[in-house]
Amino acid sequence: MGHLPAAVRIVEVGPRDGLQNEKHIVATADKVELINRLSATGLRSIEATSFVSPKWVPQLADAAEVFSTIERRPGVSYPVLVPNEAGYERARAVGADEIAVFTAASEAFNRRNINASIDESLRRFEPVLARAREDGVRVRGYVSTVLGCPYQGEVPVAEVVRVSRVLHQMGCHEISLGDTIGTGTPRAARAMLRAVAAEVPMQALAVHFHDTWGQALANILACLEEGVAVVDAAVAGTGGCPYARGASGNVATEDVVYMLHGMGIQTGIDLPALAATGHWLAARLGRESGSRAGRAMAADAD
Ligand code: HMG
Ligand code: MG
Repeated sequence: MGHLPAAVRIVEVGPRDGLQNEKHIVATADKVELINRLSATGLRSIEATSFVSPKWVPQLADAAEVFSTIERRPGVSYPVLVPNEAGYERARAVGADEIAVFTAASEAFNRRNINASIDESLRRFEPVLARAREDGVRVRGYVSTVLGCPYQGEVPVAEVVRVSRVLHQMGCHEISLGDTIGTGTPRAARAMLRAVAAEVPMQALAVHFHDTWGQALANILACLEEGVAVVDAAVAGTGGCPYARGASGNVATEDVVYMLHGMGIQTGIDLPALAATGHWLAARLGRESGSRAGRAMAADAD
């Protein structure tokens, strides 16, 4: 086994990536309670919501209300998704001080998701990044479809590297590499990460795996062995992109934390409290938790 990091920072994306794909719109009060519960578990980064067009993602049309109602705990960052300057203004109006811009390594997916080519989207981010720099706002950059695209199939690693490099050069402090449809397997994940890390420092990289094909934990382990130390995950395994056919749940945060703690890697997260939050959320959504570790812990408690 390769060298593993001593500690990992989890970026909890459930309130955003998790809830953006729910069939039924979750009540604003439940979104707020979810974020407040998550911030009590020791998580330091919680992606709170998304200031995209409400016509495109009605599930998160209440972004401003959610963001201005949550209790913002000191030491916890609450990044929000922003696709353009209009989104930046909405986010800033309610006091967001960390944002995430997002594009893809696949032209076909990008067109469906944000109605722009890759290069158009990068140009669209320029004024957002310039304003963020002036305002002292930290910006994360997502690259989607890094291991496959639902519309064009294969995605060249060179394109993942190029888009990651450009986002980093534009001023994104962290680049999150997204396997949007979860088709990647560990060798490919490792090779992709290694290629990106040759151009963007590993400390500036994060991995974001959807578990559609059951590969997420294996892929995460492969990437940890390459030296990545930031992992995105969603409590109760919710999630998916409404514009990526076949995309389903993110890897469950409880499962990632269970694996990391079992390997002696610190996260600062209270796993029982996290699992309780996962159960609470699953109950609100009216279904079983998507976290295997969460279900096992509940069975143990019975
Ligand atoms: P468009 O239709 O090309 O843009 O959408 P537009 O500028 O023509 O705007 C259309 C309408 O939306 C206009 O309103 C705008 O004012 C309004 P109208 O004049 O028709 O009344 N509008 C906005 N309203 C509020 N906030 C805004 C905003 N922008 C425009 N920010 C656009 C382009 C980018 C806006 C649209 O495509 C969009 O919002 N897409 C978002 C799709 C999305 O959120 N996908 C999921 C997130 S990505 C993901 O999940 C992947 C990730 O998890 C990583 C991974 O797994 O790989 C991050
Ligand atoms: Mg995602």
